[in-house]
Amino acid sequence: MKALVLAGGKGTRLRPLTHTSAKQLVPVANKPVLYYGLEAIRDSGISSVGIIVGDTACEVREAVGDGSKFGLDVTYIPQEAPLGLAHCVLIAREFLADEPFVMYLGDNFLVGGITDLVDAFREADNDAQILLTRVAEPQFYGVAELGPDGDIIGLEEKPEYPRSDLAIVGVYTFSPAIHEAVRAITPSARGELEITDAIKWLIDNGGRVRSHFVSGYWRDTGRLQDMLECNRIVLEAIQPDVRGTVDGFSEITGRVVIELGAVVENSVIRGPAIVGAHSKINGSYIGPYTSIAEGCVLEDAEVQYSIVLGESTIRGVSGLTYSLIGRNVEVSQASGVPNTHQLMVGDHSRIQVRA
Ligand code: DAU
Repeated sequence: MKALVLAGGKGTRLRPLTHTSAKQLVPVANKPVLYYGLEAIRDSGISSVGIIVGDTACEVREAVGDGSKFGLDVTYIPQEAPLGLAHCVLIAREFLADEPFVMYLGDNFLVGGITDLVDAFREADNDAQILLTRVAEPQFYGVAELGPDGDIIGLEEKPEYPRSDLAIVGVYTFSPAIHEAVRAITPSARGELEITDAIKWLIDNGGRVRSHFVSGYWRDTGRLQDMLECNRIVLEAIQPDVRGTVDGFSEITGRVVIELGAVVENSVIRGPAIVGAHSKINGSYIGPYTSIAEGCVLEDAEVQYSIVLGESTIRGVSGLTYSLIGRNVEVSQASGVPNTHQLMVGDHSRIQVRA
């Protein structure tokens, strides 16, 4: 069995971060989302992985390499434009050959791995297996409708009026029968070859398609609130580990990881939280559910329930909450006239300040 991981696409909802970097590489507890998926694939016993890459191919290649650090053998499959999930299957035809495969959306986050799903598929004789979970806003997902006996009777991609609250999770398993389906369908109204349509085609043409409910936690990390929520879930389970330096004037409580080379002085850190390698935290407060990546500087700052990416600086600013701060960002106090906000912010940024 092989795996096809989708790491192309646009990432419009996480702009401006995704103007310059791949959305699949935004870190959760200081580890790119994509890594969690690759580890889950490896743990399920699959080693041959094709990764679909688009505009951010260089960055994904640099982060994943040949896959050996995950125990995987990775083949990159360039996609000229994000033409849809079924288009990814179409262009991976040669790599996939005639083997069954698991298709994993690189921005999906699934706690508990995929081993049960892969094992169930290996045992059954199905053409497709999809995962479902109940969500509050089904209109943002592929939506399945089940009959009284649990059979799938309807599938729709991001319907305006969803017929159920059952969202399709971004981990699918397919037999080679999917190749005929992706060739048979035509682009949707949004111009993409939808995998939802290909699965529907399989059902309509006598294919055996089964669904399972996700037992663990799942999120599509496409939106800020989902990223922060995944970060919270992972941090809840981290084991405290202080490998950096903490001075005697600092107070560390709860589940806190301080990575090698990080220096914490005169600060309070209330876990769960993680401070990345070579970051410097001085006179600051880091509150629960916060991930500070490598090489950051926090001075006289207060941050909680947030993700701060690498090499960023926060100086003299308190009350940062529920924030996602990109790489090499500087957040500091405006000097001079009181009560002013001085901003230099990239396109598509979102800033909320207390007026
Ligand atoms: O997350 C679950 C949802 O994922 C499902 O409920 C939907 O049925 C499914 O269509 C998909 O919807 P999204 O709108 O969230 O898909 P998105 O465009 O975000 O793409 C998912 C991943 O696949 C992401 O890592 C980018 C990558 N991708 C996407 C497209 C369209 C590619 O590599 N190539 C593409 O052409």
